[in-house]
Amino acid sequence: MSLIAKCIKNKDKTTTPVWLMRQAGRYLPEFREIRTKNPDFIKLCLNKNLASEITLQPIKRFGFDAAIIFSDILMLPYGLGQKVEFKKNFGPILGKLDSKIEEVNENFFTNKLTPVYDAIRNVKENNLTENKEVIGFVGAPWTLLVYMLNKQSPKKELNSEILKDKNKIKSLFNTIDKYLKIHIKNQISAGATIIQIFDSWAGLVDDKFLDNYIYEPTIKLVEFVKSFNTPVICFPRNIKDYKKYVEIINPDVINIDYNVDPKKIRDQIGIVIQGGMDPKFLLSDKEKLKKEVLNYLNLFKDHPYIFNLGHGVLPETNPDAVDYLVKLIRDFK
Ligand code: CP3
Repeated sequence: MSLIAKCIKNKDKTTTPVWLMRQAGRYLPEFREIRTKNPDFIKLCLNKNLASEITLQPIKRFGFDAAIIFSDILMLPYGLGQKVEFKKNFGPILGKLDSKIEEVNENFFTNKLTPVYDAIRNVKENNLTENKEVIGFVGAPWTLLVYMLNKQSPKKELNSEILKDKNKIKSLFNTIDKYLKIHIKNQISAGATIIQIFDSWAGLVDDKFLDNYIYEPTIKLVEFVKSFNTPVICFPRNIKDYKKYVEIINPDVINIDYNVDPKKIRDQIGIVIQGGMDPKFLLSDKEKLKKEVLNYLNLFKDHPYIFNLGHGVLPETNPDAVDYLVKLIRDFK
């Protein structure tokens, strides 16, 4: 059994497992080497051999307890035929959302994303992932709706114009729900052993809309993942009330961001907790990093906890700092 499975299934507290969001990415020279030769990010995600190689890069280097498949939450709009591009130093840019989306069917979608599922199969077959979890993932319905309508990352707040047409919103949520379920099912069939749901823009939703935009659409997905007997991790980044979210959504694991007090969360929430540390600590000197890592490990020594960050690894991170982080966690008694 993997350390993560022991933590989730047995609520084991004796050994803290570790993996990091964005563990496969630009802070790794071996990733940058591949990336330079592959300027089209979507194409790279659809190259099953390179995608599985990139997924395994951080496992080879650091021996993390989980491999997260190298892909992107925006593969869903791509699979629905919406144009998705990534501009350097800007982020994603999506194309117009036109009515052709209604002509998409399951076959069309699955065919477009087949290399993602093949990459998961490759990763599963590699001996580096023996006794480790293979994490598949999706964006939460709300976060995907934001990208599909806003066509780029929102700033601090959202242009409320895009949410005005309630019928359009409802129908888009339905489409997203249908294809997210297909995407989840396909990833599990290919070998994903855990699904993480990223709700990166959960913090933008007003309290009065939480039911419609966050809770209702997410509950359906969480129940869907659980129906495969597969654990589900939720990351509603910057949501104001994690306790309420957990009570309503009931995921197997909750990933917290770095703007919350981990001690308060620990005292409020009974389920497995993941993450929390500010990725910026990986940019500071060893002493500061050590202090922060030990702070998290000590806070959670009597609570089932998976070490991770409060958001993704920053591109400017030195891989040596990640090495040191993993050593600190492995040596902790
Ligand atoms: O290692 C992993 O975590 C697995 C792969 C992964 C990527 N994106 C690869 C990626 C995962 C899990 C994601 C999730 C994702 N993608 C989220 C949710 C998490 C979060 O960051 O809030 C979101 C919002 C996206 C959409 C997205 N993709 C953005 C906003 C960007 C640009 C910002 C950036 O960091 O460059 C991406 C691009 C992206 N996705 C990169 C990687 C490795 C960088 C691409 C590059 O090399 O230029």
